[in-house]
Amino acid sequence: MGKYNIIVAMDSKNGIAKNGKIPWDLVEDRVYFKKITTETKDKSRRNVVVMGRKTWESLPKNNRPLSGRINIVLTKQKMDAVETVASFEELEKKLVKIAEKIEEVFIIGGEQVYKQALDKLNIHKLYITQIQRDYGCDQFFSEFRDRFELEQQEKHRDFYFSRLTNRNRGV
Ligand SMILES: NC(=O)c1ccc[n+]([C@@H]2O[C@H](COP(=O)([O-])OP(=O)(O)OC[C@H]3O[C@@H](n4cnc5c(N)ncnc54)[C@H](OP(=O)(O)O)[C@@H]3O)[C@@H](O)[C@H]2O)c1
Repeated sequence: MGKYNIIVAMDSKNGIAKNGKIPWDLVEDRVYFKKITTETKDKSRRNVVVMGRKTWESLPKNNRPLSGRINIVLTKQKMDAVETVASFEELEKKLVKIAEKIEEVFIIGGEQVYKQALDKLNIHKLYITQIQRDYGCDQFFSEFRDRFELEQQEKHRDFYFSRLTNRNRGV
């Protein structure tokens, strides 16, 4: 089965959202997110994006499900438009069933789902877009620096694309 990764964009205070929305509009980050979550080495496989119900609802209707990726939404509710799971245990079972078809699994938010993913899953890599500004966010990403170390960093105007790897090499 594909390894678990997290991809997140945050501000200088680890903020990820304000009033239920991402308070920046960074074209480069949208392009980067699409590339990282879509590209596979094995062209016969696809990546999975896993998100909470509120993040799903925050996506523009004409942009969901996210194309070229298997979308899975965590929710206790019934939804028709997308595949859902009611727990992380159910998610793992589903991923085992489709293991032959998938390459990487990306946890794409939001706050609640990131927190649980960091606690419950063996996260292999973190892909972080860090914007060097404080947007006064009211939702945050948990502290991660003790568990992950920097592997690669690309500096742009006023943001970085960073890739961190789990310090526990067995993951
Ligand atoms: N900056 C970034 O990179 C980034 C990325 C993604 C999202 N965001 C932002 O984050 C915000 C949303 O975050 P959020 O924490 O409010 O919501 P969320 O994590 O997207 O979704 C929360 C919902 O997911 C479901 N859920 C969570 N854990 C579950 C579990 N263990 N089992 C089953 N269902 C579970 C529940 O849905 P039900 O209530 O339906 O059961 C819960 O209400 C939005 O503002 C979004 O724009 C930012």
